[in-house]
Amino acid sequence: MTTAKSRGGNPIGRALVIGGYGAVGSAVTAALDAWFPGRAIPAGRNPAQAHRLDGVRTDIADPDAFARTLDRLPDVTLVVLCAEPPDITAAELCLERGIHIVDVGATAHLLDALTGLGPLARRTGAAAVLSTGVAPGLTNLLARRAHEAVGGAERIDLTLLLGTGDHHGADAVRWTLTSLTTPAPAAPLRIGLPGYGTRTAHPFPFSDQYTLPRTLGVPRVTTRLCLDSRALTAGLFALRDGPGRLAERPAVRRLLTGLLNRVHLGGEGFAVRADAHRHDRHAAYALTGNRQSRITGLVAAHAARAVLTGAVTPGVHHIEEVPALARLPEGLTEHGIRLLHHTGGTTR
Ligand SMILES: NC(=O)c1ccc[n+]([C@@H]2O[C@H](COP(=O)([O-])OP(=O)(O)OC[C@H]3O[C@@H](n4cnc5c(N)ncnc54)[C@H](OP(=O)(O)O)[C@@H]3O)[C@@H](O)[C@H]2O)c1
Repeated sequence: MTTAKSRGGNPIGRALVIGGYGAVGSAVTAALDAWFPGRAIPAGRNPAQAHRLDGVRTDIADPDAFARTLDRLPDVTLVVLCAEPPDITAAELCLERGIHIVDVGATAHLLDALTGLGPLARRTGAAAVLSTGVAPGLTNLLARRAHEAVGGAERIDLTLLLGTGDHHGADAVRWTLTSLTTPAPAAPLRIGLPGYGTRTAHPFPFSDQYTLPRTLGVPRVTTRLCLDSRALTAGLFALRDGPGRLAERPAVRRLLTGLLNRVHLGGEGFAVRADAHRHDRHAAYALTGNRQSRITGLVAAHAARAVLTGAVTPGVHHIEEVPALARLPEGLTEHGIRLLHHTGGTTR
C-alpha cells in the first residue's frame, strides 16, 4: 500500500491542481507557485490549455484516465480539486495512494460521501481538507467563531452576498443555477451586510449548512444568498419560488446563464456574515472582500500549504476542524478581506 510518507520522497512533493486554469484553480496555482516555485501543476480536460500552461491533461470524471495521471506523476503528494467530480471516485484514487486532498466543492451530498473516506485516509496517512473557499469555507470559519462566542449556538444563520460584476467561473455559475431547482429549505431573512445596507437573503443549498450541524453540533443552520443587485436578487428568487417555479425549466436556466455572464449590474465585491443564537445571546461575524473566485482560490491554497507542510493530521476534515486554519480570515487581510464582529447583544 502506498502511504503519504512513502510517496514521492520529497517532503513537500508537487501539487496537482484540477481545474488549475479555471477561475478558482488559477488563483490556487498562482499562490502555490509563489510559495513553492515549480511545484504546482495545473490540470484539466482541455489539451490546448494544458499544453499552453505547461500543465497536465486529465479528467476526474474518467477514473482510469485519472488513475493513470496519478501513477505517471509519482512526486505528486497533493491534489487540489477545483472542479466538481460526478462522485467520490477521484478522491478515493488519491487517498488510497496516500495523496492528500484539498477540495473547494460546495455540493452537500458529495462532501457527505467524502467525509466517509476518513478511515481510508487515516490508513494511508493522507489528509483531506474539505469546504475550502468562501461558501463553504469562510462561512464555516465565521460560523465556528460565532458559535464559540455564544457558548454553543442553538441556531446559526449564514448569509452570502455575491457581486454581479464579478467574474464567476462557468462551473460556479452552472452550480448556482442548478441549485435553483432545489426548493427553498427555509424562509428569507432581512439582514444587514457591511457596505451593502439591509438586504433580503434567500435560503440556498450551500453545503456548509449541512456539514456544520455535524462538525459543530449546532442543530439548525441555514445559509442564504443575495446578489449585490437588489433587482437581480428579486428576479432570481421569483423564478425559483414564484408561480410555476420557472427556474426548474432548463431553458430558463440557459437564459439566466447568458444573462449572468453578460449583464454586470453590480461590482466585484462579496460579503459573508455568520450569526449565532443561544437563548438571548447573539454573536455576529462578517467579512467583505473582492473577487470571490480569487479569494476561494487563496483559501484553498492556504489549506494546501497547511497540508503540504504537515500541519494537518491524517483523516478527512472540514476547514473549521483544522486548528492551523482557524485564523485564516486575518491572514487574508493583505488581500483586501475586512473582518468585523459583534458579540453579546440581545437578539429578537
Ligand atoms: N467553495 C466556494 O466558495 C466556491 C466558490 C467558487 C467556486 N467553487 C467551486 O469551484 C469549482 C470551480 O469553479 P470555477 O469558478 O473555477 O469554474 P471554472 O472557471 O469553470 O473552472 C473549472 C475548471 O475545471 C476544469 N474541469 C471541469 N471539469 C473537469 C474534469 N472532469 N476533469 C478535469 N478538469 C475539469 C475546467 O477545465 P476543462 O474544461 O479544460 O476541463 C476548468 O478549468 C466549481 O465546482 C465551483 O462550484 C466553490
